[in-house]
Amino acid sequence: MCGIIGRVGTDEAIDTLLTGLENLEYRGYDSAGVAVQNGSGIKIQKQSGKVAELKQAIDSDLLSGEVGIGHTRWSTHGPPTDENAHPHTDSTRDVAVVHNGIIENYATLKSSLQELGHEFESDTDTEVIPHLIQYYLDEGASAETAFRRAIDDLEGSYAVAAMVANEHVLYAARQGSPLVVGLDDDGFFLASDVPAFLEYTDDVVYLEDGDVVVVRPDGVEFTTLEGHAIDRQPETVAWDPEQAGKGEYDHFMLKEIHEQPTSLAQAIEGRIQGDEPGEVALESFPPGAFDGIERIQFVACGTSYHAALYGSIAMNQCGIQTSAHLANEYGVSAPPVDENTLVIAVTQSGETADTLNAMRRAEADGARLLTVTNVVGSTAARLADDVLLIRAGPEIGVAATKTFSSQAVMLLLLAQCIIDDLDGTCEDRRALYNDLSGLPDTFSSILEDGTAKALAEQYLGAESYFFIGRGLGFPVALEGALKFKEITYEHAEGFASGELKHGPLALVTPETPVFAIFTGDEDEKVLNNAEEAQTRGAPLVAVCPAGHRAVDIADAHLDIPAVDPDLAGLLANVQLQLLSYHAADALGRPIDKPRNLAKSVTVE
Ligand code: F6R
Repeated sequence: MCGIIGRVGTDEAIDTLLTGLENLEYRGYDSAGVAVQNGSGIKIQKQSGKVAELKQAIDSDLLSGEVGIGHTRWSTHGPPTDENAHPHTDSTRDVAVVHNGIIENYATLKSSLQELGHEFESDTDTEVIPHLIQYYLDEGASAETAFRRAIDDLEGSYAVAAMVANEHVLYAARQGSPLVVGLDDDGFFLASDVPAFLEYTDDVVYLEDGDVVVVRPDGVEFTTLEGHAIDRQPETVAWDPEQAGKGEYDHFMLKEIHEQPTSLAQAIEGRIQGDEPGEVALESFPPGAFDGIERIQFVACGTSYHAALYGSIAMNQCGIQTSAHLANEYGVSAPPVDENTLVIAVTQSGETADTLNAMRRAEADGARLLTVTNVVGSTAARLADDVLLIRAGPEIGVAATKTFSSQAVMLLLLAQCIIDDLDGTCEDRRALYNDLSGLPDTFSSILEDGTAKALAEQYLGAESYFFIGRGLGFPVALEGALKFKEITYEHAEGFASGELKHGPLALVTPETPVFAIFTGDEDEKVLNNAEEAQTRGAPLVAVCPAGHRAVDIADAHLDIPAVDPDLAGLLANVQLQLLSYHAADALGRPIDKPRNLAKSVTVE
């Protein structure tokens, strides 16, 4: 997820662009840049780091002009370096482009252009776009035609804004990534999201997939890719600029819970493919990449540990020898490590000190390191031999939500590559991968359900909240309890359902609601354990599909669609995220910044 801003007006563009980038920084913050023109070529300034650092470095006199574009980046292709920062240009520096999204066919386009003599300076997928525009300009096309042809060549998702030297025009296109036009008395804005320009105008036009816009100081043309005019009417947004980063949501956490269909689609994009439905292809891991690995150890903390446990259980169930370790305990409890050990660090931020220490210890013993993270160029990414990006986009709320689901899904995909290489026992997992492809839509259907809010209010004031599950339901029970205690400050615990009778049952009373997660795997046993608690007076909430036997027995039901057992826990987790959120909201807690906690824990 990156942020795009563009301005065509009658006044200097640079301050507007920088304000826009600051307002968009929640969409990405590992590098930033601007390009401005005033009839004497395009001037660009870009660098790794935050917008504030770019702002300090900028000499506004050099970047004088009324037309400009800017970008704040969340890396997907290539680390957050100055070279990879946007805007990107062609070799003549006559074309500048900013882009949000993923160009799936960039490798093919890049090698065709390289064969024609185009030289590239970055590792990004974006850089093919200015080169394509240049290619068509060289063929004699007008700037507008060159832009349209370049867009026509792209596959994937994108919001793109481009300018060509000495033209007082911006060209933009949208396919799968958001783009909005703002209209004020002195000109026009282009942006990934309304907050970018809300200080200046609240009159906007939301673009739709397939739209191409041509923005001049005296007007905007909305067209199809082929150039046919289309009707797009402006609307007025009723947003408070302060709130705008959260969009329509009261808290970043709720926004991020609702972003999961998108973040999951990004995690999966291009990774489930092949002739056979359900074939998995992960960058850097061709068939045989894991040959020789004899054991796998996961290291992680908190929510990321729950995702790691999820991955570990899924792999164990397919005959792969894995174990999941709390990174802070790894130093004292890790099983033997050697060069045939793969240690997988799961860390959203890539900066968690405990996880980094565990990685360094494993590395010292000769293990191969793989990091699953959301942050390109993070310390954990740099420490590892290989990196898998979960592509969830920035997560602002301290409580991890969308990164958990993306981590778990990435580990299921990784599991398939490992199972194939190490001859695991689950050979035909096509049904799972078909359900995985549909997961973004399945998540969307749960997000519309209001039952979690009603139950959060119904059980408010309980003495304690218990979450139970078995197999892949167990890490979800742990995660449900962690999220609940973290943001409500109420006592909550997660248990393997079979463990209740070995002690925790002593705590069960009519004041301790029990949330039981049914994944479709050994559900009868979970139901027996849940009923043991219900018999002692605990209100029982079944998290399962409608029509499940548990629904008739339980006191309440949180519905999830019926899917492959490997995925059901992730659906249950969405209901539990909503439950925690609404309970914390009803209690008036500072949900995005719970007391005593930090988003990135860089101390041991
Ligand atoms: C809880 C939460 C934390 C993190 C943990 C590890 O909602 O976010 O438990 O999961 O601090 O952080 P990362 O994933 O950055 O290593």
